[in-house]
Amino acid sequence: MALVSVSKLLFQADKGGYAVGAFNANNMEIVQAIIRAAELERSPVIMQASQGAINYAGLEFISGMVKIAAESSSVPVALHLDHGTDFEQVVKCIRSGFSSVMYDGSKLPLEENIAMTKKVLDIARPIEVSVEAELGKIGGTEDDIHVSEKEAMYTDPEEARYFVEQTGVESLAIAIGTAHGQYKGEPRLDFERLAQIKSLVKIPIVLHGSSGVPDESLRKAIKLGVCKVNIDTNIREALVWTMRKVMAENPAEIDPRKILGPARDAAVEIIREKIRVFGSSGQA
Ligand code: G3H
Ligand code: 13P
Ligand code: ZN
Repeated sequence: MALVSVSKLLFQADKGGYAVGAFNANNMEIVQAIIRAAELERSPVIMQASQGAINYAGLEFISGMVKIAAESSSVPVALHLDHGTDFEQVVKCIRSGFSSVMYDGSKLPLEENIAMTKKVLDIARPIEVSVEAELGKIGGTEDDIHVSEKEAMYTDPEEARYFVEQTGVESLAIAIGTAHGQYKGEPRLDFERLAQIKSLVKIPIVLHGSSGVPDESLRKAIKLGVCKVNIDTNIREALVWTMRKVMAENPAEIDPRKILGPARDAAVEIIREKIRVFGSSGQA
């Protein structure tokens, strides 16, 4: 199957009341784990590569691996750029065959974020590449900031309405209390804000920093309009914890396949669990 656009998957998810998992891919084992999990669950899936992943694996390797995986896949697969902050990088990803890109202008002043998002839409829309934007600031869990400061970074519902009206963007990542990385305590999501935003913008909402968010909170967010859920940290944990365990139990092992193989299996399991929580099993 050829790569599909994220908008197409999210349109169906919005109608069906479920979310599509967007899993970060950094290497071959993760690409294979994502496809395997999606096929076992009969679920559509989004593979996403961050700028860091592209620097690590190489743009052509990432897009090549995902295209090969998608071609032989029995479920729909999208390839998405995660947190593209550089216009040139966004264009390079589109040229290399990504079916979707995120333009992350969240650190820019509002009008600049709007202008840059429109610039990306102008080149992506005619060739049916979908575009996600970000409004509000989704930090990292390592950002040691006070709750009131955090809330100041949350997405403002009226601003979200204005942003979507001005840009015509297809999906929107919002800040409602999640953060990237491992949480120190339990994350608290601002569901009221999410509901307000969804009542003002009619497009699919994207939740970032979703590793470590309790399943019940994820289900509630999906009910309120989240259609794409981003997971990276939980896959890193499954891989690395398994690698450590295998190496501790077999200190003489020097065959990387014997270490990475079980790690890949652990990644399949966590991705399957997430897909079930998102409600997309059986939707492919
Ligand atoms: O949103 C951030 C993702 O987890 C990607 O992280 O930039 O370390 O690849 P990364
Ligand atoms: P986590 O690493 O917290 O799951 O966040 C992933 C993400 O938002 C990628 O854009
Ligand atoms: Zn993110």
